[in-house]
Amino acid sequence: MPGQGVSMNISKKFKRLLEPGYIGKVHTRNRMIKTANGTSFIEPSGYVGERALAYYETMARGGVGLLIVESCGVEYPLGVQHPPVQFHLDDDNYIPSYSELTKVVHKHGCPVFIQFQHAGPWNPTGLLPKRDTKAASALTKEELPGPGFDVPRGLSLAEVKEYIDIWAKAAERAVKAGFDGVEVNGATCHQINTFFSRVWNKREDEFGYKTLENRARYMCEIVREIKKRLGQDFTVTCLLNIVEYGHEKGTTVEEGVQFTKLLQEAGANAIQCRAHNYYHRDGLLHPERLFYPEPPESLPKDLDWSRKGRGALIPLTEAVKKVVSVPVFCACRLDPVIGEEFLQQGKLDFVGMTRRLLADPELPNKVASGRLDDIRPCTGCLHCIDVRNKNQLLECQVNAALGKEREYAIKTAEKKKRIMVAGGGPAGMESARIAALKGHEVTLYEKSHKLGGLIPLAAMVKELELDELLNLINYLKTQITKEGVTLKLGKKVSTQEIEEFKPDVLILAAGAVHNTLDIPGNNRRSVVSSSQLHKQLQFYMRFLGPKMLQWLTKLWMPIGKRVVVIGGAIHGCELAEFLIKRHREVTIVHTDKVLGEGITIEDQLRFFPWLDKKGVARFTEVKYEEITNKGLVITTKEGEKKTLEADTMIITLPFLPNTDIVKSLEKKFPETYTIGSCIEPGLIVNAIADGARIGHKI
Ligand SMILES: Cc1cc2nc3c(=O)[nH]c(=O)nc-3n(C[C@H](O)[C@H](O)[C@H](O)COP(=O)(O)O)c2cc1C
Ligand code: SF4
Repeated sequence: MPGQGVSMNISKKFKRLLEPGYIGKVHTRNRMIKTANGTSFIEPSGYVGERALAYYETMARGGVGLLIVESCGVEYPLGVQHPPVQFHLDDDNYIPSYSELTKVVHKHGCPVFIQFQHAGPWNPTGLLPKRDTKAASALTKEELPGPGFDVPRGLSLAEVKEYIDIWAKAAERAVKAGFDGVEVNGATCHQINTFFSRVWNKREDEFGYKTLENRARYMCEIVREIKKRLGQDFTVTCLLNIVEYGHEKGTTVEEGVQFTKLLQEAGANAIQCRAHNYYHRDGLLHPERLFYPEPPESLPKDLDWSRKGRGALIPLTEAVKKVVSVPVFCACRLDPVIGEEFLQQGKLDFVGMTRRLLADPELPNKVASGRLDDIRPCTGCLHCIDVRNKNQLLECQVNAALGKEREYAIKTAEKKKRIMVAGGGPAGMESARIAALKGHEVTLYEKSHKLGGLIPLAAMVKELELDELLNLINYLKTQITKEGVTLKLGKKVSTQEIEEFKPDVLILAAGAVHNTLDIPGNNRRSVVSSSQLHKQLQFYMRFLGPKMLQWLTKLWMPIGKRVVVIGGAIHGCELAEFLIKRHREVTIVHTDKVLGEGITIEDQLRFFPWLDKKGVARFTEVKYEEITNKGLVITTKEGEKKTLEADTMIITLPFLPNTDIVKSLEKKFPETYTIGSCIEPGLIVNAIADGARIGHKI
């Protein structure tokens, strides 16, 4: 049987990853742990509702070994960072709805923990109202280790004891709701960490900064109290910063490792290791992002940067494993392949993952059945955390079904239709994929010879996500091929062709059109329109591919030394980055008030300081006047006429909807949908979401 061979190879290849394990007394079917991630899926009333149930059920059905439910406040609203969209189990009234959650997860053979947190002084989004922020000690505004914090007052000894009770009560509720364990979040900059870290702890009492035992005492007492109330067999895991960077008083690896020993003595059944970096709101949650837009001059020591952030925290799990006997894990852009490697090397006991599972909750089942090509790849874009940090419902760039699991469950269509998709970009491919999965007969036309629309171009420009974006195209291509979509590449569809094809449904996904800059001098040789630029790049890309082209452009490009980028939204900023890395002197001009629309806030916080460092001039709220032989003439927001001298001016104004194609075809065929950039130019996330929406509708 061929299938048997495949599964034998797979069980060999992922021998350790697919091996069952234990955390405390909790049995896991494999070594993959879904680490906690906030979703904003809680109902406004504070109860767990349909959206969260469907999301967690899908995650459990996907085969993960252990599911840790997102950070849940032990107190509300003071205990959470994202009121009113964050989970909180501070009242018995919520228990029945949380029981629904544990039931839907257990139904699929998956154990489920809940992560408890108390926010403490951390306010990375700046969205929190003024409140009675409490930490180990009071700090003044000047003493705060960065902008993402509120000024805390110090907890009295009596309050510390009250909080231990608050934590233990939350754990009691968790047990009543059917959770198999709790994860105590003492990491990043939450309240517990203010005891561990000398950045925050100035106390002189038994919870004070003077000894490691005192610093660890708060979390240890919490663990002891939970165990005392719920029994020694009840599973409690601890998440903490093993190391903190960016502050002279930050926890050192030696200290962090000793903390874990004390936690194990207190009863912790597993340790999740984290590193924190002050002065960036993402801390070190996503270490690979430190390489955007360029690797920093120095990288946090002690960590492993050999894979550009993937697996960066492994030296921490290794160090902790030397002193504890309970399982140790971490999450840091791990994937099944490197996860297996680290397991085999004995560097961790479980592989923590979040984003890979948001992108594809079925990843564990796909690994187990050898369907690696079917895993939808996470591109690492951080759109998910961007929306979460705006208190919006969680979304994933590549998985449009996230948060819509029930609506978007694949149902076989009642009537099989002949579907014609015009356009092989992400919107067209995603609509074709879903329509085919539903049993429709789908033909996809793409005028160029390659699928992916503008993704290869974007991949070339976005150096950091190059491989991931190319993987995304491959994934979509593989899926539509497997589902039997007929591909007609190098074929632009005409009205006549559609009339002959006689589709039941026509999906127009032909992409956007380029904007032009209507000012005197716009046809000078020094001006490069975005359509010219795209045509040139696409021409070379046909022969060289995005990777080679990216490398070659570092050696040569037909673009002058001094460049003005006209348009400062995401595309203009990305192009500016690309040019700066190729030693061009860049100026960015923009008619709007703020630059960077479309770039995640995490990336903006890295990108703009980088532009400052590179001395890039930026002008916002300008009026474009004309292009002369010297450069671009603008009127600045102060009303001054100014010539920005340049050898090349590149127009990157926002794309426009493809109204011509819409007008010419839309009304001719009874069921026509216009999707993606064709109707509303946007980003990959918008294109895939739109493709999915229509795929499910037909
Ligand atoms: C949208 C989002 C929300 C997150 N929320 C939490 C959280 O509530 N608690 C927590 O401990 N970690 C949270 N994390 C961090 C993840 O658990 C994980 O440590 C991080 O994403 C790195 O793992 P990955 O590379 O597999 O994504 C969040 C991550 C994401 C992407
Ligand atoms: S939004 Fe981006 S980073 Fe987040 S899971 Fe999806 S693809 Fe990955």
